[in-house]
Amino acid sequence: MKAIVYRDYGGPEVLSMAEIETPHPGPGEMLVKVEAAAVTTADWRLRAAAFPGVLGPVGRAMFGWRRPRNPVLGSAFAGEVVAAGEGAAIPTGPVLGFVPGRAHADYLLVKPRQCIVRRPAGLGAEEAAALPFGGLSALVFLRDVAKLQPGARVLILGGSGEVGAMAVQIARAMGAHVTAMASAPNLPLLKELGAEEALDYRRHDVAGLGRRFDLVFDTFGASHLGEARRVLRRGGLFVPLNFGLREMLQALTNVLRARKVRLHVSTDRAEDLERLVAMQQAGQLRPVVGQSFQMAEARAAHALVESRHKRGAVVLRMD
Ligand SMILES: NC(=O)c1ccc[n+]([C@@H]2O[C@H](COP(=O)([O-])OP(=O)(O)OC[C@H]3O[C@@H](n4cnc5c(N)ncnc54)[C@H](OP(=O)(O)O)[C@@H]3O)[C@@H](O)[C@H]2O)c1
Repeated sequence: MKAIVYRDYGGPEVLSMAEIETPHPGPGEMLVKVEAAAVTTADWRLRAAAFPGVLGPVGRAMFGWRRPRNPVLGSAFAGEVVAAGEGAAIPTGPVLGFVPGRAHADYLLVKPRQCIVRRPAGLGAEEAAALPFGGLSALVFLRDVAKLQPGARVLILGGSGEVGAMAVQIARAMGAHVTAMASAPNLPLLKELGAEEALDYRRHDVAGLGRRFDLVFDTFGASHLGEARRVLRRGGLFVPLNFGLREMLQALTNVLRARKVRLHVSTDRAEDLERLVAMQQAGQLRPVVGQSFQMAEARAAHALVESRHKRGAVVLRMD
């Protein structure tokens, strides 16, 4: 089968198309013919060993010190189960899911207990592949980490990115009042996704917004507690997706603060992905595919993701 492989850390040029062996499903495993898979910021970070802040050595220890241990990237996928071992959760049919790599290939082996769910007829492969990475992060961070309540006022930084586009819609579905920031060309998208207020970060300073929020959700790494506290009400939360030593120390001293930092690492539970699919089916959540590429254009897809200016998700088509 064809796969996009990388043998060294580096720029998009380390990626190439290669023939590798097609895996075979053992007991409980599912073989998915991949139709589309997102190229995410996690794929860029793994390819370039661009682990944020103090996580550099941790990332290399986990994923390969000198060169990557797993040569095939890709976590959020959509396709069809074409073969399954005995006792597999889904024996056949259209699916989507989120795995720790290897989805940028014609076929993907999904192990028991990995995150995979059935894909309803009305959800196309590209849209489905655009759902898990941003959707799971946004859902878990807003519902479980921030414990967002109806009527809460939320400021979402990086509102047009893969996590941000999902966060705007999920926060609205949870009954929050949403202000979102992106650059001028993406402000109409923020409004379409449901933001009551869409602001250009090149024209507006977070600290100078002159209003109060219950939550500042920073999906880009655009702000920090010192700035966010200027627009947070007492008891408000600053939740950054990217964090370093400073935020870790701040979170440890939360008890001393009127405005707190909450940190978390995203999870990948099938029941959460089911919830996102149900929201999509109910018309509450629209996957945003900013651009899709053929498999042979993987380098261009990675370059766009690394620019940090993609709209929603960037998707690779395996056909
Ligand atoms: N902690 C965790 O478990 C976790 C989970 C998921 C993701 N993450 C991390 O969270 C980040 C989110 O990734 P993503 O794919 O959603 O989006 P991204 O590509 O990193 O960011 C895109 C968004 O940021 C905006 N942006 C770009 N430059 C900016 C600037 N200088 N100031 C303010 N905003 C700016 C973009 O708007 P314009 O295009 O309009 O400029 C767009 O809305 C990644 O770094 C990822 O590694 C962490």
